[in-house]
Amino acid sequence: MRQRWLLATVLVAVVACTASPTSSPIERTLFDGQHIFRFDTFGDEAFWTDTLKMHQVVQGISPKTALGVGLKVDVDALPAALVSQLKAGQVNLDDPATTVALLALNAVVGVQASVDATNRITRFGVTCALCHATVDNSLAPGIGRRLDGWPNRDLNPGLILSLSPALQAPAVHAVLTSWGPGKYDAHWNHDNQNGPVLIPPAYGLAGVNLETYTGEGGIPYWNAYVAVTQMHGHGTFVDPRTGDAVRYNPDLVTPKLPALQQYELSLTTPPAPADNFDAAAAARGQTVFFGAGTCANCHVPPQYSDGGFGLHNPAEVCADGGLATRGTTGKYRTTPLRALSLHPPYYHDGSLATLADVVTHYNTCLNLGLNSTQQADLVQFLKSL
Ligand code: HEC
Ligand code: HEC
Repeated sequence: MRQRWLLATVLVAVVACTASPTSSPIERTLFDGQHIFRFDTFGDEAFWTDTLKMHQVVQGISPKTALGVGLKVDVDALPAALVSQLKAGQVNLDDPATTVALLALNAVVGVQASVDATNRITRFGVTCALCHATVDNSLAPGIGRRLDGWPNRDLNPGLILSLSPALQAPAVHAVLTSWGPGKYDAHWNHDNQNGPVLIPPAYGLAGVNLETYTGEGGIPYWNAYVAVTQMHGHGTFVDPRTGDAVRYNPDLVTPKLPALQQYELSLTTPPAPADNFDAAAAARGQTVFFGAGTCANCHVPPQYSDGGFGLHNPAEVCADGGLATRGTTGKYRTTPLRALSLHPPYYHDGSLATLADVVTHYNTCLNLGLNSTQQADLVQFLKSL
């Protein structure tokens, strides 16, 4: 009797799971949005294949090298036999043919490739997940279950691009190899200035009105900017402020923006690892944050960003002003404080290595006069967010 009941429950659960993508308009949109975030290139293969020739580059790259530049492998896309072989160390991670096989399985996060019958990569493109997803390393470093919205701070986009035969001009090559892991410059191809920024989390955005470090616009605005001007997807992006006027017909970006936005808004901030901070000290630090530290003047809960559309001059927080002058606002948005301990370093340029550095920085910049206990407690509070 009990067994039959269990079986029935399992069946209902299976049916519910299979049906969920289509069961309500909201779930349907979330499912579509997830698919777009993970797998949609918006037609950017034309750029990454025909212009950058990345299909040729990747054809000769071993999995070890690919993992070394921060690419991640989605364990859920692998057949069980391959998972067992990987666990047993029986897969040759020095053989580029293994990379091609992983691409054919659609197992490389943020990358889409077509592989022909002779195991040649014919088309290559990238998706949002390249920069804004990682894996939990459950099988091996770089191989595990997807973590959408987590910034891939191992990814070295500049180094990857620098391998393209089309980007070998010495000045270009020098810029790309200067960025380093976890950083990208989404303005460089507009203004030719070199100032990479940390890839930010794409979770915890619900209730944050302005996206990007400089508060360029809302989620759909920025998604269109990146999809069209950075990934080189075939869509529409027009903004007189940036001088962009790109239009493709058919437009493979604009119709997808609502579902993509809904998926991004569903990505909640992961909880801070509880064993990472001292709860009693964090509680004391909370008092500092809202009191003597004056942090909540700008970092307003629940997102710990500006509730409205307030932006700040770089000097207000003693930040390097270079990026601000390159954006359209001239200022910085108060960065939402999201799972801080999971993604060091801090500030848009990564200039503050640790949360202790952040607190020391503000203590000096804002002339707070916090003593060492207050500072240590504040660090614990930041780790608890
Ligand atoms: C090559 C890496 C890369 C790719 C691909 C990429 N992004 Fe980003 N994304 C960044 C960087 C870097 C920033 C920060 C830009 C800035 O603030 O100047 C950013 C900013 C963002 C933000 C703002 C986060 C915040 O806190 O305000 C969102 C949302 C976002 N990206 C979503 C997307 C989506 C959706 C896609 C696919 C259409 C995408 N990104 C593709 C690197 C990337
Ligand atoms: C005047 C408004 C303002 C005040 C006051 C302020 N912040 Fe900030 N905070 C900002 C801005 C703007 C940024 C973005 C700076 C950058 O990226 O260069 C920022 C960034 C940060 C970051 C980096 C987040 C990340 O993911 O990179 C942390 C952490 C932080 N603030 C903590 C604090 C703490 C702690 C206090 C109080 C001691 C404080 N802030 C006071 C506006 C403020």
